[in-house]
Amino acid sequence: MGRLENKVAIISGALGGQGQVAVSRFVAEGAKVVATDMSPEPDGRVAELVSETDAAVAYIGGDLCDYSLLGRIVELAIARFSGLDILFSNHGIMVGKPFLETTVEELDSVLAVNLRAPFLLSQVAAREMSKRGGGSIIHNSSVGGLVGFPTMAAYGASKGGLAQLARSMATDLAEYNIRVNAICPGVVDTPMPERYVEGLGVNKESVFAEMEGMHLMNRLGRPEEIVNVALFLASDEASFMTGAVIPVDGGLSAI
Ligand SMILES: NC(=O)c1ccc[n+]([C@@H]2O[C@H](COP(=O)([O-])OP(=O)(O)OC[C@H]3O[C@@H](n4cnc5c(N)ncnc54)[C@H](O)[C@@H]3O)[C@@H](O)[C@H]2O)c1
Repeated sequence: MGRLENKVAIISGALGGQGQVAVSRFVAEGAKVVATDMSPEPDGRVAELVSETDAAVAYIGGDLCDYSLLGRIVELAIARFSGLDILFSNHGIMVGKPFLETTVEELDSVLAVNLRAPFLLSQVAAREMSKRGGGSIIHNSSVGGLVGFPTMAAYGASKGGLAQLARSMATDLAEYNIRVNAICPGVVDTPMPERYVEGLGVNKESVFAEMEGMHLMNRLGRPEEIVNVALFLASDEASFMTGAVIPVDGGLSAI
């Protein structure tokens, strides 16, 4: 029996590096999953899971900054799987720009995607979870929300805000038996850091070597190493955990 048997989960950012792994792993542990991301159609492993007979995964595409989408995601969970127990709010964007060069548009967009959307998606999800007698919400924050990095002011502010959102939500939602926690990954081997490094227009290998060296483990994280913690927090094994902000960063924030 899987750790998420009879649970229904929403996973955002489901087509990204960590999202694809999260959807597969949650399903392998017995969950039914509503996967959501920007693209109108799923791809990769998510697309395979959606196309299976009696699929454990339903997909809905759209921009999470569109408020009307949020209710439709939760409605899909109810229509297809009869309820909602877990939200892994995993989507995110990165702006890698020096503080003095970050534009108003870049700041607004990173806050809208990384902070406003998780706030509002959690709100509609928690309303449904409260009807089921409880649930678990996990925010994918970042080590950039715990410590300062150059070129990460906007991203770090959004992710620091997200960590604090998890703590605050935990206090408001405890009476509904909804646990809320945040994970703070170090640099994870997904398309996100690739895009960041490409945007810098400098020697890719040397920047990656530098990023690896920031971790005590001297390497980047693998998506499954982050998803393992999300999975644990989603499951009843974490029944005494709420309001926690957990670095999953190969020791980066310990230095
Ligand atoms: N990769 C890293 O080094 C790293 C480190 C710390 C934290 N994180 C966080 O982990 C999470 C997952 O990132 P990843 O590494 O898988 O990167 P990724 O870029 O592969 O995936 C992010 C996903 O979020 C989706 N997304 C972005 N904006 C959206 C929007 N407005 N509406 C709907 N979906 C949207 C993207 O389409 C993408 O599929 C993000 O929140 C990210 O900030 C990543």
